Amino acid sequence: MTVPPGFPDGCFGAGHPGALYEEIRAHGAPVRHPELPLWLVGTYAEVHEAAADPAAFRSGDGILISEIGHAYDAPPTMMHTDPPDHTRYRRLVAPAFRPKVMRALEGPVRDRVRALLDALPAGAPADVVGGLAVPLPLQVICLLLGVPEDDWPRFHAWSEAIVPGAAEGLDDAERDRLRIECGTYLVRTAHERRDAPRDDVISQLATLTADGDSLTDLELVMFLIQLLVAGNETTRHAISGGLHALAAAPGQWAALRARPAALLDGAVAEILRWTAPVVYFLRTATRDVTLGGAKIAAGERVMLLYGSANRDPAAYGPDAGRFDIARAPEPAGLAFGFGPHYCLGAALARLELRILLEETAARHERLVPAGDPVWNASPLVTGLRRLPLALS
Ligand code: HEM
Repeated sequence: MTVPPGFPDGCFGAGHPGALYEEIRAHGAPVRHPELPLWLVGTYAEVHEAAADPAAFRSGDGILISEIGHAYDAPPTMMHTDPPDHTRYRRLVAPAFRPKVMRALEGPVRDRVRALLDALPAGAPADVVGGLAVPLPLQVICLLLGVPEDDWPRFHAWSEAIVPGAAEGLDDAERDRLRIECGTYLVRTAHERRDAPRDDVISQLATLTADGDSLTDLELVMFLIQLLVAGNETTRHAISGGLHALAAAPGQWAALRARPAALLDGAVAEILRWTAPVVYFLRTATRDVTLGGAKIAAGERVMLLYGSANRDPAAYGPDAGRFDIARAPEPAGLAFGFGPHYCLGAALARLELRILLEETAARHERLVPAGDPVWNASPLVTGLRRLPLALS
C-alpha cells in the first residue's frame, strides 16, 4: 500500500482520512512509514495492545514526530514519562480530577453552557466553533483551576500560543513571549494559592502531598500548562465535530431530544469515537516485539492512530464508518487512549459534552447547516475551525 509521503502532514484538512485508514487496516499488520523509522498502527486490537503495555512500548522517548531526537530542557510532562515516574506523577495529580471534583463542576459548567447558548442568535446562522466549542473548554479549565474571570481572555491567547498549530499567523517571538507570560502567571498564582489555598485545582496541586511526596514548582507549572494544551483544543474539536455529525443526522437529533435519558451517554461516547480529535501518539519499542504480526525492533516507534482504531469494522462491525448514537457501547472507543496514560481529563470532557448536548437539545429542535464547514489542517489534533449552523 502507498502511504502518502510526509504522512500525517498534508493528509488532514477534511477530518480523518478514512480511506487511508482503511488501507492501513486492510494491510493486515502495522505499516512501515515511507520515510521515518516508525510503524503506522491502525487496527483497534493493535492500538489497544500497544497502549496497554508500557513495558514493551514506552512514552519517555517522545510521543510526537516533532519530538524525535529532541532533548528536553524542562522536566518531562506526565505524558512523556513511564512507570515508576509516571505512576508517581499520576498518583500526585489524580485527586484533582476525582469524581467529587467533577460533580462540583456540573452546576458551573451548566451555567457556562446556558450563557453561551443564550448569546447565540436563535434560528440565525452562527459559527458554533467560535460561539460554543472554543469558549466552553477554555472557561471550564479556568473554572477548574480557579482562574479569575477577568483573566480568561489571556488564557485563551496563551492556550492558542502553546498548542502547536492552533494559532495561525503567530510568529515564533510572539509565541515565546506568550508562553513565558503564561508560565510566569501560573508560578505566581501557584505561590499565592500555596500561601492562601482556595477551593480550586491550583490550590490542591500546590499543597497536595502523597506519602510525603509533592510536585516541585516546575513540575506543577508544567502540569498546569499541560492541562491547557491537553484539554482545550481536543474538547473543542469533539464538541464541534459532534454538532457537525448530529446536524447531518436530523433523525438522530430528534431521537436524542425525544429520549435524552436513554441516548445521552451513547451520544457522548459516539461523538468521541467519531471525532477522535487526537490523531496519534507515538510509543517506542523497548525490545524486539511483535505487534499485529509485524516484527518491531527495539528502539523503533509505533504511531497509534486512534481515529483509525475507532473506525475499525473488526471492533465496531460493518457500519463502523457510520455515525450512530444508538450504537452498542462496547468496545469503548480509544479517543482518550488506553492503559496507564488514559486521559486524565476524560470525565471532564464527557461532562462538557453531555451538558452541552442536554441543554442544546432542550431548547433547539433542529441543527441546520448554514454554510460550508472549515477544517483545520493539523496532523496532530484534527477538527473544525468554523461550523456555521442555525440552531432553531
Ligand atoms: C475530547 C477531549 C480529549 C481528548 C480526545 C483527549 C485525548 C487524550 C489522549 C488520547 C491521551 C493519551 C495520551 C497517551 O496515550 O500518551 C490523553 C492524556 C491526557 N489528557 Fe486528554 N483528552 C481530552 C481532554 C482532556 C482534558 C479536558 C484534560 C484536562 C483538563 C486532559 C488532560 C490529559 C492529561 C493530563 C493526559 C496525560 C495522562 C497521562 O499521561 O497519564 N485531556 N488525552
